[in-house]
Amino acid sequence: MHIIEPTFESVSDNIDKVNIIKGKLWDEQAQFDAGKDKTQFRQFEAACERVKNFYKEQHEKQTVEFNINARVKFRKDVRARMGIWEAMEKLNTLVDDSDPDTDVSQIEHLLQTAEAIRRDGKPEWMQAVGLVHDLGKLLYIFGSEGQWDVVGDTFVVGCQFSDKIIYPETMASNPDSKDPIYSTEYGVYRPHCGLENVMLSWGHDEYLYHVLKNQSSLPDEGLAMIRYHSFYPWHREGAYRHLTNAADEKSLEAVRAFNPYDLYSKNDDTVDSEALKPYYSSLIEKIFPEVIEW
Ligand SMILES: [Fe+2]
Ligand SMILES: [Fe+2]
Repeated sequence: MHIIEPTFESVSDNIDKVNIIKGKLWDEQAQFDAGKDKTQFRQFEAACERVKNFYKEQHEKQTVEFNINARVKFRKDVRARMGIWEAMEKLNTLVDDSDPDTDVSQIEHLLQTAEAIRRDGKPEWMQAVGLVHDLGKLLYIFGSEGQWDVVGDTFVVGCQFSDKIIYPETMASNPDSKDPIYSTEYGVYRPHCGLENVMLSWGHDEYLYHVLKNQSSLPDEGLAMIRYHSFYPWHREGAYRHLTNAADEKSLEAVRAFNPYDLYSKNDDTVDSEALKPYYSSLIEKIFPEVIEW
């Protein structure tokens, strides 16, 4: 039997769907009556079903060893030299039109996120974050191992896996869960060492953060929005408080302020990228160099 691999777009989309539905359940937990209305739970379970295999693979393969190698590889090469808008167009080539699961294209999602932030009168740097936050998915074009090292929720490697990670039971197949050091509460870290000193599972967030931290004038809050936007076990579930410090509190506030724009702007009106290009080109000019080393 020939098994068709789900496309990058559909996996990436379904991961977002799970977080949207989880977000609704989480927000409404107080009023939520499971006996009265099970629709959301059923939708959640259906979406989860579609991403289950993805997470099973990711949780098995995101080891400390893999993460160190990914960072070494990142520092060794420059994968491309191009500006932000060109990168957005390049990311858009990932779109598979035949995929019925895909709601909006990558470039549309970036523009919708930025537009929602702009509509709310938020600062230009935050609009810029909305515009670029998923450009790290270019990793998939640059030759990642798979989808599991590009998308999906992130977590800390090098210490005990949190039970707040989605599908926590699948972490048992990660060899680090049996490592005498990595399996301990603090692992290789000191109490409250700060997320700055913690290794997060490798993917589009971490990659883009490393690309932009020295190639943009984004403030620390903006870089935090980029680095932690998929770090749901922390920013939504409150895990890893034994590792965070005072600076992370500020980051947490920033990431939580950004999250709704990422999750809920997909229902907004469609955007005309050509019409928006002049506005965003001048915004890009203010914050990023003309050519970025990816
Ligand atoms: Fe993302
Ligand atoms: Fe996004």
